[in-house]
Amino acid sequence: MAYSDVYEGWKNDPEGFWMKAAEAIDWVEKPTKALFDENAPLYEWFSDGMVNTCYNAVDRHVEAGNGDRVAIIYDSPITGRKDKISYAELQTRVASLAGALRQQGVETGDRVIIYMPMVPQALEAMLACSRLGAIHSVVFGGFAANELAVRIDDAKPKAIIAASCGLEPGRVVDYKPLLDGAIDQARHKPDFCIILQREEMPAELTQGRDHDWYEVQNDVEPAECVPVRGDHPVYVLYTSGTTGAPKGVVRPTGGHLVALNWTMKNIYNVDPGDVFWAASDVGWVVGHSYICYAPLIHGNTTIVFEGKPIGTPDAGAFWRVIAEHKVSVMFTAPTAFRAIRKEDPEGEHVRRHDLAHFRTLFLAGERCDPDTLLWAEAQLGVPVIDHWWQTETGWAIAANPIGIEHLPVKPGSPTLPMPGYDIRILDEEGQEVDRPGTIGAVVAKLPLPPSCLPTLWQADDRFRQAYLSRYPGYYLTGDAGYVDEDGYVFIMSRIDDIINVAGHRLSTGGMEEVLAGHPAVAECAVLGVADTLKGELPMGFVVLKSGVTKSEAEVMKELVAKVRDEIGPVAAFKLVAVVKRLPKTRSGKILRGTMKKIADDAAWNMPATIDDPTILDEIAEALRGLGYARKHGSA
Ligand code: COA
Ligand code: AMP
Repeated sequence: MAYSDVYEGWKNDPEGFWMKAAEAIDWVEKPTKALFDENAPLYEWFSDGMVNTCYNAVDRHVEAGNGDRVAIIYDSPITGRKDKISYAELQTRVASLAGALRQQGVETGDRVIIYMPMVPQALEAMLACSRLGAIHSVVFGGFAANELAVRIDDAKPKAIIAASCGLEPGRVVDYKPLLDGAIDQARHKPDFCIILQREEMPAELTQGRDHDWYEVQNDVEPAECVPVRGDHPVYVLYTSGTTGAPKGVVRPTGGHLVALNWTMKNIYNVDPGDVFWAASDVGWVVGHSYICYAPLIHGNTTIVFEGKPIGTPDAGAFWRVIAEHKVSVMFTAPTAFRAIRKEDPEGEHVRRHDLAHFRTLFLAGERCDPDTLLWAEAQLGVPVIDHWWQTETGWAIAANPIGIEHLPVKPGSPTLPMPGYDIRILDEEGQEVDRPGTIGAVVAKLPLPPSCLPTLWQADDRFRQAYLSRYPGYYLTGDAGYVDEDGYVFIMSRIDDIINVAGHRLSTGGMEEVLAGHPAVAECAVLGVADTLKGELPMGFVVLKSGVTKSEAEVMKELVAKVRDEIGPVAAFKLVAVVKRLPKTRSGKILRGTMKKIADDAAWNMPATIDDPTILDEIAEALRGLGYARKHGSA
């Protein structure tokens, strides 16, 4: 079948399309219909079906006689540990952990925060929650205590499951002070914590609150899978919004199961039993969808890799894992390939490994520059597929669905919209652009397909305001881009203040809030400047209050430390300059866009509304001090 037939098939009968896809899921009670639009423009899918996510991801494979198949391969080049967990073992472990959670009082609908590194127990914790119908919220380990506290206060978890530490190359990340600090800071207190003790840095457990991962499971009754409604949230995942307050993206159970399962064959072209590897982190949506849920729901083997593309121990780590574990399909972010290319431009490491099983590389998480895509293709000799999606959707909005048809690749484009997504490009007035190739806001006509967020966690108004109000009838992706004459989508930038640093989504607004909280700072601006490795890097400009006695160097050092302490190391905030003034329009709006263009040495025009053009020369000078805007002012 051709892609166009499948896409048209969906367009002609969207509900029929998804009801058919839903047949691949084991329901306790089948849904009576696909779309529930009574609350439009808030939509739900498969609401009245009864189903359990963990059953579909684990138990059904055991019942089908595939209990011996490897579910999870753990490979940790940092510790040297490797492990294989079969579906049958996974079922035993997850049922036991779920039993312990239940014994401690966790019930269907309760929230559980998971704060864990890349160990298989992170997946077990997610699955144990979904087994009970408890709603998990995984928090990325590179976030600081403050970010964890904000999520605790929003999700109000009954329990937190954490590890004693995470491992970064050359550094053990002690989770316990972060966990304790977050619980201290938060207004809401969890009833209890479960701590996985890791030998690299065991934690001292807090009496009366913390339980050891293994001890809490002693003699518990294994828990069965609890059926929930199709519209019951399986998880809430917080992602950057335009302020420091992250948005709690709700993932509904039924749509999540149906859509993810559909993607495994149709987009990634894998069959049950194939080894599928997403080199990301469980703290991000890629980790939720493609390290944990989709491969398991579809009966694949997934890999939990506790390492990096370079430095663990070298730029051959990915090829070693692909060869050793016979990976068919890999998924990662372009930044990982830029890092590998920098260390091994000729691909010498690639040739040291037998990649005979490897079929396709998928990239997502940030714009994929054509150079990186072509380099990866040349080195690996397999198709390299860029695809575009976001936390809000949980799966690809645009992709090259090689399980349906391998469409011609246009480097720089994530190819064509997937069934379920009716993508349009709108101008400022909300009109569709009249010519292919015209840049505008990328939107999707409502309703969004299954798995996409029906709302934000306990914040319907914020959901409407952030995504639905700008262009009624459409979902605002937040991305700007265009569609070419062949219908190929090109995603170029964001229309808000979100930046993408090494595939990690961060809010410059959130960083500005942190800088503004420093007593010496009068005003500030943070922008994302282009970076050849990480795609973008945050850069801060601060104006100091008069009368500040500390040296500028001292303040800058404190600001870097403050962002690391309050947001986390993952913000990678290291570039900051003290300036006398910030460039603004006459109405007082900071000209961040112009500053960014100067930093990136991109073409720019003097904004007609600028208050004082000479400030831009001062900004360019500060940028040159940081190694940017080298061409500014040169003839
Ligand atoms: N826990 C604690 N700290 C973490 C962390 C975690 N889970 N993940 C990252 N950090 C820290 C890093 O140690 C680093 O700290 P440092 O400032 O002390 O060096 C900082 O956060 C920035 O991390 P990162 O952006 O990952 O940069 P890096 O220089 O360590 O590595 C790459 C660069 C390209 C190798 C790395 O970003 C990478 O592997 N990217 C793959 C992309 C990816 O997985 N994206 C997810 C979405 S698909
Ligand atoms: P996240 O929610 O962290 O997955 O980030 C989603 C955002 O990353 C999108 O809105 C885009 O801005 C960007 N993004 C993800 N994938 C791509 C891609 N393939 N091409 C361009 N941008 C992408």
